[in-house]
Amino acid sequence: MLILGVESSCDETGLALYDTALGLLSHALHSQVEMHAEYGGVVPELASRDHIRRVLPLTEHVLKEANKTLQDIDAIAYTQGPGLSGALLVGTSFAESLAFSLQIPTICVHHLEGHLLAPLLEENPPTFPFVALLVSGGHSQLMRVDGIGQYTLLGDTLDDAAGEAFDKTAKLLGLGYPGGPALSKLAQTGKPRFKLPRPLLNSGDLNFSFSGLKTAVLTLVNTHPNLDEQTKADIAWEFQEAVTEVLTTKCMAALRETGLDNLIVSGGVGANSKLREKLNAATKRKHCTVSYPRLEFCTDNGAMIAFAGAMRLKAMQKIEDSDYSFSVKPRWDLGELKAP
Ligand code: KG4
Ligand code: ZN
Repeated sequence: MLILGVESSCDETGLALYDTALGLLSHALHSQVEMHAEYGGVVPELASRDHIRRVLPLTEHVLKEANKTLQDIDAIAYTQGPGLSGALLVGTSFAESLAFSLQIPTICVHHLEGHLLAPLLEENPPTFPFVALLVSGGHSQLMRVDGIGQYTLLGDTLDDAAGEAFDKTAKLLGLGYPGGPALSKLAQTGKPRFKLPRPLLNSGDLNFSFSGLKTAVLTLVNTHPNLDEQTKADIAWEFQEAVTEVLTTKCMAALRETGLDNLIVSGGVGANSKLREKLNAATKRKHCTVSYPRLEFCTDNGAMIAFAGAMRLKAMQKIEDSDYSFSVKPRWDLGELKAP
């Protein structure tokens, strides 16, 4: 079956075609990063309007690249939530109306399920069950994954998400938006010089807290009024060290507690090379495995949505008839998802 995937939950329009027999055939992405950069963050109304401009040309692009026509599509999977309501509405209304015109089924996908399953798009995918670390702009969660829709929350952030902490700290250091990639680039020229806290490192549970770290960076910034480039890089180095040490320690604790030996990492912060370096070393020491999506599928994309839709479709006993009505779920807890 050929599945068209549509992602429009935030500031990236992503389209992809996934064939359940042949794998990923094509994918295309338009990032709105440049458009939002001058405002220092995502402007929801601008995001929605841009998704409208991009969704049709990107659909034509993925069809052409895969040498397919609209009539070849068997089902459309789209992100129903969580995310920005206006942005979600664009992808949702586009997907449902195209499916109506083609009289094919639709599959509503939870954005985080898309992220969670993205490592399974790679060669030699991990098999269930595994522990998943989901670290994006809005989430820092550890989960036990037993199958599609079978997610048990093991730990969560009590305040800021890891990506959010990267973004806010980058802002304090005068770096652009989004902050994660910019901060990690700057950290490459940094040296060990400052000491920041490792929040909840030894809390005995699998929860995270990153907002205090940002406050500690603010204190450092305030005590160095003439922030030169090297000082900024040294702060970035230590900040990245603190976040990745906490994430790595908690991942290893989650593996220990669940007795599982496979870890997967997904979401934007999963692209961070220091995090990958630390997790590779720690899992190797404990004879565990760790899998990541390719770098471009760590951040938002259509391929993970097409894939999650295809997995759900495959697992369904019977494909429900769509009535092509639609709603979006800007707030949607992953725990509410059911196995297909
Ligand atoms: O998964 P994602 O694209 O969007 C959400 O669903 O939130 O994640 C975006 C987040 C941003 O906070 C961004 O700063 C962060 O991921 N990010 C990174 C890196 N690349 C993206 N953080 C640290 N290091 C990176 N290389
Ligand atoms: Zn995302």
